[in-house]
Amino acid sequence: MAADDVWTTVDDYLVGELVAEDEALVAARELGRERGLPPIEVAPNQGAFLALVARMAGARRVLELGTLAGYSTIWLARAVGAHGHVTTVELDPRHAEVAQENLARADVGERVEIAVGPALDVLARLTESGTEPYDLVFLDADKANMAAYLELALRLTRSGSVIVGDNVVRRGAVVDPSSDDPSVQGSRAFLHALGNDPRLEATALQTVGSKGWDGFAIARVR
Ligand code: SAH
Ligand code: DHB
Ligand code: MG
Repeated sequence: MAADDVWTTVDDYLVGELVAEDEALVAARELGRERGLPPIEVAPNQGAFLALVARMAGARRVLELGTLAGYSTIWLARAVGAHGHVTTVELDPRHAEVAQENLARADVGERVEIAVGPALDVLARLTESGTEPYDLVFLDADKANMAAYLELALRLTRSGSVIVGDNVVRRGAVVDPSSDDPSVQGSRAFLHALGNDPRLEATALQTVGSKGWDGFAIARVR
């Protein structure tokens, strides 16, 4: 068996044992496929992981960058509970439209605001509006701007807030300092900042599974 095949087989097993994906989550992924969105949402066990982190952090307010079809958004919206709120930022209005349908079907539309536009602009607007701090930030939009997103996230959080970054390993490509891939450079700048910013305590983990070989970074604001 090729490595990717066995990773997927194990993910299927883990999901079967541990992750209750309901009809709304399955439908969210399927509508994304139907409408031609890329199949790059988090895996079910990764969605459950994000939801657990949110619950452990007692998160009531979540900020997500990169909505796609709203698959991870549904996990996070459920984790914050009926009185919680998720702000999710999406550049592509067609993605936002699909996500809105998926969130409504999952019955979390009222606790989620989809902000459509470039994340840098939306974050700048949020910082200027003096919005209440977020308890959890999930960075999953374009990777070139990850370090800038981290800096802005620090202005939108408080001591104890959690910041999670997706796709920081990129099938190992992240170790190439001379890479001309903006996503690699962005992930490297993000990881360097996480490791060197006195305002943060952080680590990163490689992952394998149905989404291939990648990784999450996780940080707590001091
Ligand atoms: N979090 C989603 C997957 C997000 S995929 C999930 O796990 O279900 C990345 C998304 O980020 C895509 O929908 C893409 O359109 C969006 N994106 C890319 N560049 C962006 C930017 N500059 N600002 C906001 N969103 C962006
Ligand atoms: C890509 C983006 C993601 O957020 C992800 O989890 C996987 C792939 C991409 O842009 O290719
Ligand atoms: Mg991702």
